[in-house]
Amino acid sequence: QGELRGVVALDGPSGTGKSTVARRLASSLGACYLDTGSMYRAVTVAVLRAGVDPADAAAVTRVAAASRLVLGTDPARPSTALDGEDVAAAIRGQDVTLAVSAVSAVPEVRAQLVAEQRRIIAEALAGGGIVVEGRDIGTVVAPDAGLKVYLTASAEARAQRRSRQDVAAGRTATVDATLADVERRDRLDSTRAVSPLRRAEDAVELDTTDLDVAEVLTLLLDLAERRGLLV
Ligand code: DC
Repeated sequence: QGELRGVVALDGPSGTGKSTVARRLASSLGACYLDTGSMYRAVTVAVLRAGVDPADAAAVTRVAAASRLVLGTDPARPSTALDGEDVAAAIRGQDVTLAVSAVSAVPEVRAQLVAEQRRIIAEALAGGGIVVEGRDIGTVVAPDAGLKVYLTASAEARAQRRSRQDVAAGRTATVDATLADVERRDRLDSTRAVSPLRRAEDAVELDTTDLDVAEVLTLLLDLAERRGLLV
């Protein structure tokens, strides 16, 4: 099926299966993989550890500027390091999930992380391709991406997937509480002033409510092929 040349941008709200699909797509195409959400989460870890209020934009900006993030882009073992420490587990904590929307709404934080994301993408493109997932990849980070896909799913389906992930990870939360959290984050992410979550004009919208991972992957591989991104 070939190797990826260029950028595949995968955007959409949480619970659409974005991460799973993005990672598998990158693996099967011999490409790099970048989860930009983990970068906003890692800065949030730094903010919480510094005892800074996530709503204090100036203080959050200072913490972000002083933090050193290193992202591993191998889809077989993606990694997130904050000041030399592996924070893979910490970035999935409930405290981080609650605070990350506020941190990611700070324009200076976005500017800093977008610059780093573009650097990582340029580095990957020198050797092949990269699958990048987030909220603003097709609109802001990589507007020239060869393929942009906007994943959606009903809020109920997304909450179901999230609670299954939570249970698998040993966290407990009712589907109702998870649904409320999914809807809260959607609202915050789509209404913020800077780079709100929205579909790029030229993105293909894919509703994954009734699709499993294999079906989504097949559709994406087909799109990448038809865009001439596979060599
Ligand atoms: O995909 P995720 O749940 O790990 O993302 C965590 C948060 O980061 C999410 O609430 C929105 C924000 N985010 C963003 O603003 N822009 C991105 N490109 C990726 C994530």
